[in-house]
Parts: sequence; structure tokens; C-alpha cells
Amino acid sequence: MTTHELEEFLAPMRHEYADPRSLILPALRYAQGDAGWLDPQAMAAVAEATGFSQAYVESVASFYDRLYLEPVGRRVINVCVTLSCMLRGSDEIFEHLADYLGLDGEGTTDDGMFSLHKVQCIGACDRAPCLQIDAGQQIGPLEPADATCLVDDLREAAAPARYDR
Ligand code: FES
Repeated sequence: MTTHELEEFLAPMRHEYADPRSLILPALRYAQGDAGWLDPQAMAAVAEATGFSQAYVESVASFYDRLYLEPVGRRVINVCVTLSCMLRGSDEIFEHLADYLGLDGEGTTDDGMFSLHKVQCIGACDRAPCLQIDAGQQIGPLEPADATCLVDDLREAAAPARYDR
């Protein structure tokens, strides 16, 4: 992704937002979509396209749990741990998945296939406990065994992750 591509993406929004800071989040999401994470080059492009310093852009990116400042696996599993999901067992689902993937908490598997994260509400509280794969649909309600079946399905799926190039 180039700064020019990013500027083209942002152009229709520039007149919609009274405060140009509002451009930063859509720019970060767009920039992340290219590589699956926000590498320094992407951060620099967002800074240049929005007119803010790279430090400011990075401070915004670091606040949100689904903007990644480090490389992630081919598939990203985001387990919601906010109240509705927590009360219905999301901690158990997360621990079960971490064990199954051989992770000690959040992280990326050694083969680079999966990243597992805890995230805040993903907008599907009525399906708690739930998770989200990549930036896709929320999946729930889940039992721990459902979550590991999901991992098996993803591992076997021929369909490439959105991070494939
Ligand atoms: S609390 Fe988990 S989706 Fe809202």
C-alpha cells in the first residue's frame, strides 16, 4: 500500500469529518488490510496521508485491540472477554483455545497459522460467549469444544486467510 493509495481511499471522507483526526481510524484499518498488521511503513503512510505525526498515529493504533502493531498469524482468533461473554464462559473458551494451540495466553503459534487474542465487545452480546475470526462474522454462542472444532476447520480449510497475498 502506498501513501497515494491511502490518500485516494481517504479522499471521499475528507469533507465528511469536521475533525481530521477522524480520518486516522479508517486509514489505519485500510492500511492494516494490506499486510494484516501495521508495520512502520504503514504507520508512516497513515501519518503522511492524514497529516499527523507518526507518534500520534501510533498512539491511536495502540489504543484499539484489533489494530495489530506486530505481525499476526494467517488467521486471527479474537475471543471477546467483555462482561456478557465473560459471564457466560469466555475465559474458559480462551484458555481451552490457548491450550489447544500450544500458547501461553495471547500470541501466535510457532507455525504462524494462528494468533489468539482477547478483545473487548465485538457487538454480538446476544450470542455470548463468542469470538471472531479475522475481521469476519462473530461466532457464538460457543462451548470450548466448539472453539477447538473451529480451529480444526480453519486448519483444514483450503480457503486462504485475508492476509494472504
Ligand atoms: S460482550 Fe462479548 S460480544 Fe458483547
